[in-house]
Amino acid sequence: MKLTIATALGFVGAASAARTFTVYNACPFTIWPAVFTDLNVGSAVPSVATGWEAPAWSTKTFSVPDNWKAGRIWGRRNCNFATNPGPNSCLDGGCNGGLLCDAHTGTGVPPATLAEFTLGAADGNDWYDVSLVDGYNLPMRITNTGGCHVADCPVDLGPNCPSALKGPFDSSGFPVGCKSDCLVDSNPGNSPSCCSGSHNTPATCPKSGVPHYNYFKSNCPNSYVYAYDESSGTALWTCPASKKPNYTITFCP
Ligand SMILES: *[C@@H]1O[C@H](CO)[C@@H](O)[C@H](O)[C@H]1NC(C)=O
Repeated sequence: MKLTIATALGFVGAASAARTFTVYNACPFTIWPAVFTDLNVGSAVPSVATGWEAPAWSTKTFSVPDNWKAGRIWGRRNCNFATNPGPNSCLDGGCNGGLLCDAHTGTGVPPATLAEFTLGAADGNDWYDVSLVDGYNLPMRITNTGGCHVADCPVDLGPNCPSALKGPFDSSGFPVGCKSDCLVDSNPGNSPSCCSGSHNTPATCPKSGVPHYNYFKSNCPNSYVYAYDESSGTALWTCPASKKPNYTITFCP
């Protein structure tokens, strides 16, 4: 029996190679990174807590299975988990659970810049992007060791954010986020900003229907700005899974 188990583990280890992910906080302030996996899409999860405190200039390195599907990493700002830990413990990006985001419902409260990953997709590529679909809360960059393109939003989109989208604000009045047009839409169920209702296809949800598309895309051309931004050609990035790329996510690059 022992031999059987050892053999089985050895096979699993050889068959599912892992990648190395590094999350670097280059912001001159503490943030609280978070990781979420859509368990409806796949069961593989990174070998790291679903949330942690990252002081300025700190790095965390962890292993991620090379079949990680529908994963996301983001940063939370201005958190205090001492009382009432949950989605409102942070000014933005907070999640159900508090410091540790709930495995099933712990996505970030918008606005939040997201690093999104599907490793080893059906086409043989890793897919990755920096998404502003849920709005913006921190500058971010994804680099890789596979020689593939950088995905990034390197600009602080808070200070110049259009007034209708600006915020939330910290205690000094500084904007720590810039909301998406979808988030402020009064009719999100049938919206050209959210690509919902009668606008739920690429043909019926052009970028021209998103009022502030150009603010986000001109500042962050290599980011994924709205639900059907793939047509821009600079939203969703791929890298051959056969190269086994490692990835670094840098906040405030
Ligand atoms: C990924 O990182 C691991 C561990 O640091 C290293 O052994 C491997 O060579 C790296 N792979 C690539 C493609 O850079």
